[in-house]
Amino acid sequence: MKEKKPWWKQPGIQISAVLIVLIVGGGIITGIFLSQVPPDQPIQFPHDRHVGMGASCLYCHPGATLGPTAGLPGIEKCWGCHQQVQKKSPELDILVSYVERNEAVPWVPVAIQPDFVHFNHKPHLNSGLECADCHGDLSKMTVAEPQKGQNMGWCLSCHKETAPEQWTKLSDCATCHY
Ligand code: HEC
Ligand code: HEC
Ligand code: HEC
Ligand code: HEC
Ligand code: HEC
Repeated sequence: MKEKKPWWKQPGIQISAVLIVLIVGGGIITGIFLSQVPPDQPIQFPHDRHVGMGASCLYCHPGATLGPTAGLPGIEKCWGCHQQVQKKSPELDILVSYVERNEAVPWVPVAIQPDFVHFNHKPHLNSGLECADCHGDLSKMTVAEPQKGQNMGWCLSCHKETAPEQWTKLSDCATCHY
């Protein structure tokens, strides 16, 4: 006789358990997202001044056109300029202390989705979207500010609007969750 699986191994129950974990976890993350106040960063990095002097987004976040993650600049990239920029300031002293210890700056993530969501920058940029469409106008911010309401509805409503011919694929759960 085939042994009956214990209740927690039954497929229906496993799926509900996963959904409950997702929903509770998502709720906590949504809670964090509701505030638009940027988190305390180790250095008050001024986007406005760097973008204003002509540094392009892709100079510091080059992964965006290449694949899933945009990436953050390491201390070598900062130091490439700041070794020459002889300006005294408390925030730059903090940068110097990281460089002297050869330690990565522990930036706090601002634009982040839960692990069970798969987002890839490349197809979005290939389709003609701009950074500001999703991240706001960084040329007017110092450190990056979290954007409100970037939940599942946000992804879906833009898909419906901008790529209606691909709606079947772009609304399929497995396109974003797998
Ligand atoms: C275009 C991408 C996309 C598609 C398609 C999509 N989701 Fe999501 N989903 C997300 C994102 C982003 C989040 C995380 C943000 C949030 O919680 O809304 C999420 C969160 C969730 C959560 C956690 C809920 C919560 O309140 O945090 C569940 C459950 C979920 N999705 C189920 C589904 C199911 C079922 C489908 C298919 C009917 C689906 N998703 C299709 C992007 C997508
Ligand atoms: C392309 C060259 C360049 C790169 C790369 C660069 N910076 Fe700068 N940064 C500058 C210049 C030039 C200034 C000075 C602007 C001014 O005098 O107002 C500056 C200003 C700053 C300031 C403000 C200083 C103050 O208090 O007045 C901080 C903080 C800073 N940079 C941090 C960083 C960090 C951290 C990185 C790496 C993530 C970085 N910079 C990368 C050129 C650069
Ligand atoms: C269609 C919306 C969209 C566009 C357009 C977009 N991003 Fe993003 N970006 C996101 C989402 C969503 C995340 C969070 C991804 C995650 O956590 O998996 C993110 C994360 C990031 C991050 C932090 C994590 C990482 O990927 O390294 C950086 C930096 C970033 N984006 C920079 C950029 C830059 C620069 C551009 C333009 C060249 C850009 N983004 C265009 C939606 C977008
Ligand atoms: C000189 C380097 C530099 C340039 C140029 C630059 N950034 Fe950044 N960016 C950073 C650093 C350092 C951080 C981490 C600190 C913070 O969150 O502001 C960051 C953070 C971000 C984040 C949040 C990442 C996360 O982990 O959540 C986004 C989104 C972003 N940048 C978008 C842009 C866009 C869009 C542009 C162009 C308009 C741009 N950046 C130009 C250095 C740069
Ligand atoms: C501002 C509009 C916009 C937003 C916001 C947006 N998308 Fe998209 N997304 C698009 C467009 C347009 C395409 C179609 C690109 C193409 O033609 O291949 C796309 C395609 C995709 C694809 C299919 C990529 C491929 O490999 O073909 C995935 C997966 C996806 N989006 C996930 C997400 C998730 C997850 C979010 C939210 C966190 C999101 N998108 C938010 C506009 C958007």
